[in-house]
Amino acid sequence: TWTTASIVDEQVAAIREQVGGRRAICGLSGGVDSAVAAALVHKAIGTQLTCVYVDHGLMRKGETEQVEKDFVAATGVQLRVVDAADRFLSALAGASDPEQKRKIIGREFIRVFEQAQAELVAEAGAAGEDVAFLVQGTLYPDVVESGGGTGAANIKSHHNVGGLPEDLDFELVEPLRKLFKDEVRMVGQELGLPEEIVQRQPFPGPGLGIRIIGEVTRERLDLLREADAIAREELTAAGLDRDIWQCPVVLLADIRSVGVQGDGRTYGHPVVLRPVSSEDAMTADWSRLPYDVLARISTRITNEVAGVNRVALDITSKPPGTIEWE
Ligand code: XMP
Repeated sequence: TWTTASIVDEQVAAIREQVGGRRAICGLSGGVDSAVAAALVHKAIGTQLTCVYVDHGLMRKGETEQVEKDFVAATGVQLRVVDAADRFLSALAGASDPEQKRKIIGREFIRVFEQAQAELVAEAGAAGEDVAFLVQGTLYPDVVESGGGTGAANIKSHHNVGGLPEDLDFELVEPLRKLFKDEVRMVGQELGLPEEIVQRQPFPGPGLGIRIIGEVTRERLDLLREADAIAREELTAAGLDRDIWQCPVVLLADIRSVGVQGDGRTYGHPVVLRPVSSEDAMTADWSRLPYDVLARISTRITNEVAGVNRVALDITSKPPGTIEWE
């Protein structure tokens, strides 16, 4: 549309003017905001931008590949992927308290990102160039909310790529500062980003790490990743993606219950489906998903995911429940 195209033109001009001949770095999270911000900045300054994606090993099935392959193919950005899964898992070993897990993930993320940033600056320095800018996908509601400091931020310590501490040496580039989420999606579409990225539902920065109730281990992550992929597949197949805000799948890793499968007794873990409808995530209602869709998800998860023998449905609104369990 005219409006979307003009937003792109306006921002491209503004970014060129701000960055000039220098270089910028952008952290990609796999989410819509950082992807669109990066695509806009890339359109403006091309190879002067380098993107960094920290793979914390807590992403859902296929999401890292989506960034590495599809996003790069669609935009042509220079991308560095830092495989930090081992480091995050070691740091998380023994931690089962929600806030402790959030803090560990946030802390490790900043360390890994800063290291990648320092390497880039060192390399560029040798080439006599100046990495002076940090791109962030801050949206208009973020700008407003951080002024207030009330609400969800006080309930859970949020981690996201947009929340990196501002390094004093870097000037921020925030091309989405005046936009709302739906406008960001339209800009992403205008820039030719893949549908799966542009229409992606919200996913928390700490990833599956806060959807495993209990300690985070590689085996538990693998299990949850499979269950989550099945739920997503079935919701998409049923055409429900646009009807729900998101549907976390939560693994109750410290709880086991008795089941029966074939001729045998099982003693496995439950997963909880948490489909919610919401306008802005501040409040939410549990989604009345069709029974046949719920049935398919339940049958498939218990058949296909070894170790999970029970599927439960969370029917709590927010408040009193938050959307995520941790
Ligand atoms: P809650 O659980 O507070 O979640 O009702 C509200 C919305 O925020 C998402 N969420 C996060 N997003 N970093 C994020 O970028 C985080 O640390 C984080 N924690 C929760 C959650 O998925 C929901 O959409």
